[in-house]
Amino acid sequence: MVCLGNICRSPLAEGILKTKIEEKGLDWSVDSAGTGSWHIGEQPDPRSIEKADQYGIDLRHQRARQIRPNDLKEYDLILAMDSSNYQDIIRIAPDDTEKKVELIMNYVQSGHNQSVPDPYWDDDGFEQVYQMLDQATDAIIEKHLS
Ligand code: 4NP
Repeated sequence: MVCLGNICRSPLAEGILKTKIEEKGLDWSVDSAGTGSWHIGEQPDPRSIEKADQYGIDLRHQRARQIRPNDLKEYDLILAMDSSNYQDIIRIAPDDTEKKVELIMNYVQSGHNQSVPDPYWDDDGFEQVYQMLDQATDAIIEKHLS
């Protein structure tokens, strides 16, 4: 799960997907990262922590990190929150790993290239982000289990 800062969207995506795969007893390894380095080592944004709390998910143990080229080798799927994240990931992708990168909302509406809006500058955006990621993570599990 990759966004810009790894403090708002991708920590929520990580927390939601991890909760679902634990419920289903799946043996998947899920992590998140940012394309930027500004927030390395920080906890998720308090507004993401609060939003996740409302749905019974705890993000407090997460710490922001920056995506590394090796992540593209190590993980089967790299999910970008928006098209700018997508481009930044492709730029560092080692050979033959580009095909692992996808916009997360394409799991909900294939080929629409919809972005999860950056809520950093908008306190009201976190519920919408949560709902989009809830839908997308359901679709990810459904697709990869079928
Ligand atoms: P995120 O949100 O990419 O969803 O973690 C942002 C967090 C921080 C900044 C921008 C977006 N920032 O400019 O510091």
